[in-house]
Amino acid sequence: MFPLAQRMQLISESITLAVSAKANAMKKAGIDVVGFGAGEPDFDTPAFIKEAAKAALDKGQTKYTPTPCLPELKEAIARKFNAENGLPYKPEQITTGAGGKHCLYMAFMAVLNPGDEVLIPSPYWVSYPEQVKLAGGIVRVIRGEESNGFKITPQQLESAITPKSRVLVLNSPNNPGGHAYAPPELQALADVVARHPQLIVFSDEIYEKLIYDGLKFVSFATLHPDLLERTLTFNCHSKSFAMTGWRMGYIGGPKGAIDAINKLQSQMTSHVTSFIQPAAAAALTDPRGAASTEQMRKQFEKRGEHMWERLCDLLQITCVRPQGAFYAFPNVSAYFGKSIGGAKITDAISFASALLEHSHVAVVPGNDSGFDTHVRLSFATSMEQIDKGIDRIGQFLQKLG
Ligand SMILES: Cc1ncc(COP(=O)(O)O)c(C=O)c1O
Repeated sequence: MFPLAQRMQLISESITLAVSAKANAMKKAGIDVVGFGAGEPDFDTPAFIKEAAKAALDKGQTKYTPTPCLPELKEAIARKFNAENGLPYKPEQITTGAGGKHCLYMAFMAVLNPGDEVLIPSPYWVSYPEQVKLAGGIVRVIRGEESNGFKITPQQLESAITPKSRVLVLNSPNNPGGHAYAPPELQALADVVARHPQLIVFSDEIYEKLIYDGLKFVSFATLHPDLLERTLTFNCHSKSFAMTGWRMGYIGGPKGAIDAINKLQSQMTSHVTSFIQPAAAAALTDPRGAASTEQMRKQFEKRGEHMWERLCDLLQITCVRPQGAFYAFPNVSAYFGKSIGGAKITDAISFASALLEHSHVAVVPGNDSGFDTHVRLSFATSMEQIDKGIDRIGQFLQKLG
C-alpha cells in the first residue's frame, strides 16, 4: 500500500462520478442509456469565444500571466460585477481560478482555521463539505426542507449560528435543488447575517443567469451595507457560457481576502491558462456572450417546466418546481422498501443504481448533497431525451414490487 496522508481519509470519492462512470461503461457497451446525470449545458461554447482563444494562441499569448489574471480580464470582471450585479468591486478586488470549484477551494483554504464551523444549507453542491474538511473546517448542515422549496428560513439560520460559525455558504440558484431564493427571502437571510459580525459569506452565484419564472437575481453582498466587506462572490464561465471544460472561475471580494487567495494561488497553479483569459474577457464584454446565455436560458426554462410536469404525473413522486440552474430534484422515498430483480430499494443510491441497471436511465442520487431521499435529474438535454427518460422512469416505477 502506498502511504497516504491522513487527510485523504477525510474525504470521499464523488458518488456522482461513480454513477456517471457506470452509465458511460453501459453506453460504451452499446446500451441506449438516457443520461440525466450531466452537470453541464448540452450547448457548445459560442464560436466567438473559441475564436478569441485561437487568436490569443496565434498572437503568442502562451506565457505566464499575473496570478490574478491579465489586467484586461480583471477589468472585464470588475465591470461585469458593477454593471450586472451592483457590486462596486475594483479590479484589485478580483481574482480568477481554474473553475468555480478551484476558486471555492482556495477561498476555504484562505479563511478557515482548524475547528471553524461552516454553515451549509442542504441540499448542497457535493464539493462544499469535502473542501471544508480539507481546509480543516467543520461542516454544519442547515436542512432546507422540501416543504419550504428547499430554502432555509431566517429562524433556522439564526439558530444554527454559534460563536464558532465562521462562513455561511449560499448557493442560489441551487445545484441540486433547482430552487432559487426570491429577493425578499434572501434579504431576510442577509438581515440575520448582518447581526453576526463574525460570520462571512461565500455566495456561489454561478447559476445567476439560469433563473426562471421571471424571478429576479440579486447578489447577496448588495443586501446590506456591511455585507460587501464580509462576502466573497463566486462566479464562473462554466454554466453561463457553456464553458465547463475551459476551467474558468472568478471571485470578487474585500482586497485582503483576494490578496490572500492570490498568495495561495501563486504557490499552487500560478494562474488560469493564459490563452483562455482573453477569451473569458470576450465572453463578458462582447454582446454575443449575453445573447447566447439568454438563448440557453430560454431553452432550459422550457425543458425544466416540461420535465417537472412529467415528473409530477408519476405515481408517488413529489418534486419542487425548478426555478433555476438546470436540475429537478424529485423525492423518490415513497418507493423505498420495494424491490426489483431481487434488489431492495432502500435509499437514493439503490434507487439510482436499479433505475440505471433495469431501465437504463442515469440520475444522480442525492446522498452526497445531504438528501438520501431524492435524486437529481439534469434537464441540460433535449426534449426527446427528457420524454424518453421519464417514460422509462414511469415504467420502472410500475415494475417495482
Ligand atoms: C453550485 C456549484 N458551484 C460550483 C461549481 C463548480 O463549477 P466549475 O465547473 O466552474 O468548477 C458547480 C459545478 O457543478 C456547482 O454546481
